[in-house]
Amino acid sequence: MSEPVLELKNISKRIKGKDIVKDVSLSVYGSEIFGFLGPNGAGKTTTIRMIVGLIRPTSGDISIYGHFLKSDFKGAISNIGCIIESPDLYKYMSGLDNLQQFAVMKNNVDSKRIAEVVELVGLQNRIKDKVGTYSLGMRQRLGIAQAILSRPKLLILDEPTNGLDPSGIAEFRNLIRLLAYEEGMSVFISSHILSEIQLMCDSVTIIKQGKSVKSLKVNEFNQGQIIEWQLDNPSRAVGILKDRWSIEAQMTKKNALTASIGVVPVDEINSLFINEGLKLSFCSTQRSSLEDLFLNLTEGDEIV
Ligand SMILES: Nc1ncnc2c1ncn2[C@@H]1O[C@H](COP(=O)(O)OP(=O)(O)O)[C@@H](O)[C@H]1O
Ligand SMILES: [Mg+2]
Repeated sequence: MSEPVLELKNISKRIKGKDIVKDVSLSVYGSEIFGFLGPNGAGKTTTIRMIVGLIRPTSGDISIYGHFLKSDFKGAISNIGCIIESPDLYKYMSGLDNLQQFAVMKNNVDSKRIAEVVELVGLQNRIKDKVGTYSLGMRQRLGIAQAILSRPKLLILDEPTNGLDPSGIAEFRNLIRLLAYEEGMSVFISSHILSEIQLMCDSVTIIKQGKSVKSLKVNEFNQGQIIEWQLDNPSRAVGILKDRWSIEAQMTKKNALTASIGVVPVDEINSLFINEGLKLSFCSTQRSSLEDLFLNLTEGDEIV
């Protein structure tokens, strides 16, 4: 595997005699969406504050594109764009004025680049309106535009979907995919919501009480998502699943079948069944193995 874009080696942070982050190690690779998953109070924001240089680790090393934060702060930080908790925006100014204001502080950001990021985040129609009139999702997208103005290779977002409605979350997810897979950025996203990480991320590190307890590729775990359907023509359904998604389904009892659907959204499958004229009477999702793992790992945690 290539060199990591971001590497944390045994990072710890002690604040007022309390271990907030303990021995966290993780690696983020190029053009990947990385999830940092953990319950509230697990230490996600504290870790991110260390990565972006707002606070110093008590021990351990952080490197970004091979530049160590300790010894080459500027070299390391120059590769990062970030939003911590919520984007810093002036509500009484337009989106465009916000970006222009921010661009003044950055080198190599001209009006062409500003227009480019506005287009990327899909705000071209509203960019001249005051930020105060924006929805939360639009503010989030403007925050991302701001964070990527100077073409960082690594974008770090702390709980970016907090407060977004389902359509806002879906738009956000598409934007992140565009940035990672088409623009070649690596994206580090923290969240306390497993399903979001599962849908959006390529790999994940789970943090609990300040410790990284597990790192894994999300795909391997999504394989485990098992669905059971009851419908009038299961053998047709088996054919549809195979032709459309190469999913191997098994007929179980009368008019029932079950399959492991990987990352394919179950709604999409059900819509196709219905469009194909099948009569669907029941569909159930078993908990995925990632969900089981997360619940097992975080069991007993107090929600702060
Ligand atoms: N500056 C600080 N002083 C004391 N405790 C802190 C400080 N910053 C964070 N904590 C505590 O560390 C724990 C982890 O916080 P945080 O990193 O914000 O978690 P998360 O972002 O995962 O919800 C919490 O219990 C929080 O109260
Ligand atoms: Mg936090």
